[in-house]
Amino acid sequence: MTILLTGGTGTLGKFVTPLLADAGRKVRVLSRSSHEAKDGIEYVTGDLATGEGLEAAISGADTIVHCAGSAKGDEDKARNLVEAAARAGAPHLVYISVVGAERMPIESKVDRAMFGYFAAKRAAELVVAESGLPWTTLRATQFHDFLLTAAQGMAKMPIIPVPTGMHFQPVDARDVAARLAELALGEPAGLVPDIAGPNVYGMGEAIRSYLNVVGKRRLMVPVKLPGKAARAYSDGANLSLDEATGQRTWEDFLAERVGGGVSGLGVG
Ligand SMILES: NC(=O)c1ccc[n+]([C@@H]2O[C@H](COP(=O)([O-])OP(=O)(O)OC[C@H]3O[C@@H](n4cnc5c(N)ncnc54)[C@H](OP(=O)(O)O)[C@@H]3O)[C@@H](O)[C@H]2O)c1
Repeated sequence: MTILLTGGTGTLGKFVTPLLADAGRKVRVLSRSSHEAKDGIEYVTGDLATGEGLEAAISGADTIVHCAGSAKGDEDKARNLVEAAARAGAPHLVYISVVGAERMPIESKVDRAMFGYFAAKRAAELVVAESGLPWTTLRATQFHDFLLTAAQGMAKMPIIPVPTGMHFQPVDARDVAARLAELALGEPAGLVPDIAGPNVYGMGEAIRSYLNVVGKRRLMVPVKLPGKAARAYSDGANLSLDEATGQRTWEDFLAERVGGGVSGLGVG
């Protein structure tokens, strides 16, 4: 029983891989670069954007966990994957999307430039749901890693512009990975309840926690982002307050990843 994992080299996928292997499944990871087999995990080379290598990657897989993603083009990647999967049979397709995918109005160039990712994720969700394959989709809020990258980038500026009204409910990628693996090992379930982090933070508050942990001080100035999508963000379209099932907090994550300097991550 082989599971194909796309995005198995990424932030989320690297936590999903061992969970599936530990459950006794044969795991095959798709990547654009070549990797040696390791810890019983097989790697195949392919590109979801072009469709190259997908046939061989999917061959013999009864489940596909689709974690590959990027800032742009997730709809096209999903379509290429679905078409190749349909030709191979009817594997269970498990997809990770984002909370707010269906609630973010992307109507103007400004909306698209800043939040077009949400529209692509929604379009990819529909590709999955209309594929004719058995499917499961889980929506997650922003990962701690995403917020950390944003905070590190902003901390490089002497004065930090903080979008007004923007809140996050960050979730730990390990919590999402555990739920995704559970879904992959189960029956197709369609759109399942979201997974979101235990707490909500204003953008400035989240950055301030990061600055405190790394011992930096910065002036923050509020800025109002234009567009309907920014307004939806301010209205909490990216939050899932009733599904705060993630266990690890932003503070736990910061202490672990940057507090002790254990990971060697840059600190801005
Ligand atoms: N980050 C968040 O806050 C967040 C929140 C909710 C949902 N999600 C979703 O969760 C998924 C994983 O996110 P992540 O943060 O773990 O991503 P990530 O760390 O940026 O990793 C992206 C992964 O996608 C693969 N990939 C990208 N383009 C590809 C292509 N054309 N063909 C094949 N593989 C490709 C990469 O593999 P190679 O480089 O090895 O080819 C890599 O493993 C994405 O679908 C994302 O939209 C993320």
